[in-house]
This record gives sequence, structure tokens and C-alpha cells, in this order.
Amino acid sequence: MKKIAVLTSGGDSPGMNAAVRAAVRRAFYFGVQIYGVYHGYNGLIRGDIREMTLGSVGDIIHRGGTILYTARSEEFRTEEGQLKAVEQLRRHEIEGLIVIGGDGSFRGAQQLTKRGIPTIGVPGTIDNDIPCTDFTIGFDTALNTIVEAIDKIRDTATSHERTYIIEVMGRDAGDLALWAGLAAGAESIIIPEADQDMDDIIERLHAGHRRGKKHSIIIVAEGVGSATSYAEQIKARTGWETRVTVLGHIQRGGSPTAFDRMLASRMGAAAVDLLLEGKKDRMVGIQNNRIVDIDFDEALAQKHQLDLSVYQLARTLSI
Ligand code: F6P
Repeated sequence: MKKIAVLTSGGDSPGMNAAVRAAVRRAFYFGVQIYGVYHGYNGLIRGDIREMTLGSVGDIIHRGGTILYTARSEEFRTEEGQLKAVEQLRRHEIEGLIVIGGDGSFRGAQQLTKRGIPTIGVPGTIDNDIPCTDFTIGFDTALNTIVEAIDKIRDTATSHERTYIIEVMGRDAGDLALWAGLAAGAESIIIPEADQDMDDIIERLHAGHRRGKKHSIIIVAEGVGSATSYAEQIKARTGWETRVTVLGHIQRGGSPTAFDRMLASRMGAAAVDLLLEGKKDRMVGIQNNRIVDIDFDEALAQKHQLDLSVYQLARTLSI
């Protein structure tokens, strides 16, 4: 391969820039020309494709967001959109494409492989919801952002002796809520992967009060419902003062942690290596701290598994 391209797609995540940088620098290292596709699949369809230089990825390893911009493309879901995308790649004589994004972006990448453009996926999402990889790029940074926010909320929760219900992102996955809840010492963690009924939540709150504890932190993953409705139910059953914080998109921004920069650098470089080895239709992952690659079909047929032992541990530590 003499010419390849890279794009970012779906929700942005801190570390995507580090992955773009790694892909560009690795391609240069091997003497391969590399193009950046701007605005995700929408930009691909429009032909927003520009040649990258070593300098174009300078000074970005520490920056959140993505210099290539991103999008959730409706048009790319259509056959017409995909054909236009292939045409644009052919026009630039691009022989392989790296897609940094989540599972929806990988499904898009598969369509391009089927239409003759080899693709490799790099998992970039704060949700950590991609099968076959222990971590996705951006998860660690978002987790640290959440923990920092909870620590601050804890200060005021303690001062006012209130119960705080904090809603975090994760779409259908509870990883962010679970890991943040464990790291920040939350009293209850409510995630889609585990049933926790209201009686149990109330009983745990009362147990804390019986020990003299007058403040509590409850983390709710967005996938189980709104923090406001949990707050209303808790107030109705305890009569205690509650407050709600929805952390929102603050979780998606910020400078990536060292962990995410490392992960992104390793994965971005590995994606180039795979294309140059003639591989396609695969995603890069990390398993037991080793970079691996997995067939898209095999990976996407599976469901991301949250580690329920961490959930059980959090429950035993927050009695
Ligand atoms: O997939 C990343 C994510 O941040 C999810 O956690 C969240 O549900 C969703 O994207 C929000 O999407 P949008 O930025 O389109 O509001």
C-alpha cells in the first residue's frame, strides 16, 4: 500500500488525536502517504480529504476532541452514501482506511471493506462498550473526569448532609458508572448490567444513617434511567434532602490521561501495521496489556461484558 487514510467517527473521545498522530507518524515511518478524512463519514462522502504531513499532527497528543472532527452520519447508512465514499477514496487512490470510533463506526467500516476498500477499526469511545478489548480510547480520561467531579460533590454533600444522585454517560454500558463508583466510594451504583431494586438502595442508605453517616453518593448510569426520577423516589421514601447532578458532555472533553495517550499511540500505530501486512476487516484491541487484532464479524457478534466482580466488590466496600 502506498496511500492510506484515517478518520474519526461517532462521539469524540479524549485520545483520538493521539491515535491520529500515531497513525500518521507510523505511516511516514514506513514511507506511506496518509490522508486525513475530515468530519467522519460525512466528510468522506463529500470528499473532504486532505494529505497529512508530519507537522499536521504536531502538538496534538495532549489535546482532547479530534482535529479531524467527527460526525454520526445518516447518509453513510445508505447504499448511495457508501458508493459515494468509495468513489472518493478511489479518486484519491487511497488503498486502505483506518476508522477510529465505536461499534457503529466499525459497522460502517465493514461496508467499505465489502466494497473493496480494506479497513481497520480502532476503538475510540468513552463508553468502553466495545467487545474484545479491555479498554477503549477515552474511557480512562472520562473516568478520571467523573471521579474528580464526584470528589468535589462529596465535599458539599458532606457539608450539607445531603444525598446526591449523579448521572454519568455510557449509553447502554455501565462501565463508567461502575468504575467511577468504586474509585470514588459511592454508596450505590446503579447500572444496566445488574438489577438493583429501590428497596435495596433505600436499605443501604438507612444502614449508613444508622452508623451516623448523613450524606450519600449514588451513581446512576444513563442507560438505566434518569437521576431525577431516582432522586424523587428516594426523597419520597426517606424524606431526606436530595440533589441531582447530570455530568453530561463535560465527560467527553479534556486532555487525555497518560493511559489514554499510550493506548491511542499503540493502537493507532498497530492499525497502520495491519493495513501494511495486508489485513482488513479487523479491529485493534488490547487484552491483558497486549495489542491484538480481531475480525470485525467475530467482535461485533459479541456483547461487551462488564466485569460484574467489580460490581460485587464495590457493594462489599460500601456497606
Ligand atoms: O458514545 C459516547 C456518548 O458520549 C454516550 O456516552 C452518550 O450516550 C452519547 O455519546 C451522547 O451522544 P451525543 O454527543 O450525540 O449527545
